[in-house]
Order: sequence, then structure tokens, then C-alpha cells
Amino acid sequence: MLSEKNIVNELDTEVFGRKLVVLDEIDSTNNYAKLLAQDGAENGTVVIADYQTAGKGRLGRSFVSPKGTGLYLSLIIRNNISVSSAQLITSCVAVVAAEAIEELCGCDVKIKWVNDLFLGGRKICGILTEASIGFEEAKLDYVIIGIGINVSSLKGKLDSELEKIASSIEDETGEKISRSKLCAVLLKKLEERMNDIESRAFLKEYQRRSMIIGERVVIEERGVSRAGKAIAIADDAGLTIEFENGEIHTINSGEARILKE
Ligand code: BTN
Repeated sequence: MLSEKNIVNELDTEVFGRKLVVLDEIDSTNNYAKLLAQDGAENGTVVIADYQTAGKGRLGRSFVSPKGTGLYLSLIIRNNISVSSAQLITSCVAVVAAEAIEELCGCDVKIKWVNDLFLGGRKICGILTEASIGFEEAKLDYVIIGIGINVSSLKGKLDSELEKIASSIEDETGEKISRSKLCAVLLKKLEERMNDIESRAFLKEYQRRSMIIGERVVIEERGVSRAGKAIAIADDAGLTIEFENGEIHTINSGEARILKE
């Protein structure tokens, strides 16, 4: 059961989640968190829902969020963040979410650039970071970090296309994890690591968990597709690609698809 009481019982943070809104149903926790942020909600405020009727993914996609199966969480960050840190935030959150899941299920969680977490070759978690630019130049007013983790079995809950690419922790590992516990571990780790983003210490772990480095990929960016080989995660968390004409570029937006041999 996902409830404020169950989460607070597990929570061991100082700031993150100390202001907590737990909803049965909402269109998108990111949308709700954005309204709270516009109303002045403080740093560390968290919105969680048991069900999202219109969960949002990256690049205008939807994030299917069935009732009672996932952890759909949005965290408001408001502490003098520079615009240049925005991509680092998402990548740091990907590492932290992978570590939190791994701590509870003992499984090897991989990251597919930029922010998808994979278990057994299928996606179990997505991250959507949305920011509002402040009046002061190059500073963000607030950042909403939206994390969707498929926790319990999704058998019979996804359409056949989605079933091929998405899965859940339970379906991949057999482990039944408490969403409240996962939420508490995740928020604790985020609180510990988010202050240290600028050091880029997490990038080493990001690279180690990357399922894309060394693979042939197709990069889709603003409607253009180009094939190449993913060779590294750059210092700004971009993906460095050696394209087929020999050019090497680091990309910071778009989507990477791994080519099967
Ligand atoms: C993606 O896979 O493209 C990102 C998915 C992000 C989903 C989470 S669930 C909580 C938060 N609310 C949303 O509407 N989206 C994010």
C-alpha cells in the first residue's frame, strides 16, 4: 500500500520528502509538482501518485503508469542550480536510481543514455527532468525531477508493443519490493548525492553502468538519424559518438537506439 504514513515510517532524510504529497490518482506528478513549485513549494517537496492518467515521458511521449504497480515520483529542487547543471542532474539521478533499485533487489541495473534504466534488456525506469529558467541569468528557478519505476508485475497491463520493451523489477527478478521502502532509499541517496553534482564524481559510475558504450547505435536528433559507435560518456554527461564518416561528436539531446548485430 502506498500511503504517506508508510513512506514517512521508512524515511530517513533531512529535506527530501519532508514535505510530501501522496495522491491516489493524478494526470502527472510532474504537472502537479510544477503547480506547487509555481506556488512557492520549498526545496525537497515530493509528489507521489499510485496512478497517473497521463504520465509524461521524454520527447513528448507518454509514460504508462498503471495503478498500484509503480513508484511515480516528482521531486522539486530549488537551490541555485545553474543552467549548465541541468543535464548533469538527470544523469546523476539515473545513477542514484540504479543504485537504489540494486540495493533492494540485488540485481545489476544498466543505464541507457540518457536516462533509461534497464533490467534483463527491458526498460524498468524513466526519468523526466523539467526546469523553469529564473530571472537571474543562467540560473534555474526550480527543477522538477520526475522518476517512474515499474516495481510490481506488469503482466497483462501493457499493450503487446510496450510489453516487448518495458518490464518491471518483479517481472525481471521475481523480487517483490515495497514501494515505500524504495521511495525512502531513493530519496536518501538523492539527498546525499545531489549536492555533489558539480564534482561529476557520479560520471564514472554512469559510464560503468552504461549499456551503450562500445555498441553500434543510431542517433535520432531533431528528425535526423545517423549511425555510429558510442565511445564514451563525456564530462557534461553527453554521449560521444564516432560516426560512420569518422567524425567524433558529443551529443546532448535526442535518442540513441542500439543496433542489434
Ligand atoms: C521517459 O521514460 O521518457 C521518462 C519517464 C518519466 C516518468 C515519470 S513518472 C513520475 C513523473 N511524472 C510524469 O508524468 N513523468 C515522470
